[in-house]
Amino acid sequence: MGGQLIVGLDVSSRAVAEAIVTALGDDVQFYKIGYQCFYGADGFALGKDLIAAGKQVFFDLKLLDIDNTVEKGVAAIAATGAAMLTVHAYPQCMRAAMRGAAGSDLTVLGVSVLTSMDDEDVAEAGFARDTAGLVALRAQQARDAGIGGLVASPHEAEMVRTIVGPKLAIVTPGIRPAGADHGDQKRVMGPAEALAAGATHLVVARPIIQAADPAAAARAILAEMAGGVRVA
Ligand code: C5P
Repeated sequence: MGGQLIVGLDVSSRAVAEAIVTALGDDVQFYKIGYQCFYGADGFALGKDLIAAGKQVFFDLKLLDIDNTVEKGVAAIAATGAAMLTVHAYPQCMRAAMRGAAGSDLTVLGVSVLTSMDDEDVAEAGFARDTAGLVALRAQQARDAGIGGLVASPHEAEMVRTIVGPKLAIVTPGIRPAGADHGDQKRVMGPAEALAAGATHLVVARPIIQAADPAAAARAILAEMAGGVRVA
């Protein structure tokens, strides 16, 4: 289970990030570095140091640009030894990203539709499908681009799994263990339920990094993942 739990280092200070990593110790092997840490706490350097220390790192940079720029940027990330990277799941962008990652161990993940968007937001952005239809289309396009996996809400995981087949990674944020505050996540699921729905990796940030005892919080989530049931 250890490698399936990805802790989001959503902090703005390298010292705070390092304190979390130290507190979690050997229980957690996989860390996600998103915008806040990448831009606010020199998270690129932190990520490279974590990789050198034997951890797995997921750079959640949600890249989208012209093909040449995406390909070269992804190649630079792949060269760090990072385990995962997100790009927006536009077909051209995914194909360019796969060229950039060729020959490396980097798993490129497509972000289909941000979980903060509902049908109205998708229409406002100019898409002629509803959210579920757009997620399904992007999942097919991700599969056809040969991408390594997708980020999906746990509620979409089952549908995405039927489209992409058994091999692709499905990484789900929006996970809340028993009794946790939902924060701004509108549609949450427990750790065991998300795995049962087809997720291969769970991203958890606030329920661990804002806990009074982050290590105990991580262990409780790992126990829920291993047990297949909610504890308490
Ligand atoms: O604190 P919480 O566990 O809600 O954090 C979830 C993490 O997953 C955050 O880093 C957030 O940016 C990320 N994420 C998300 N929804 C997505 C993609 C990424 O919540 N669709």
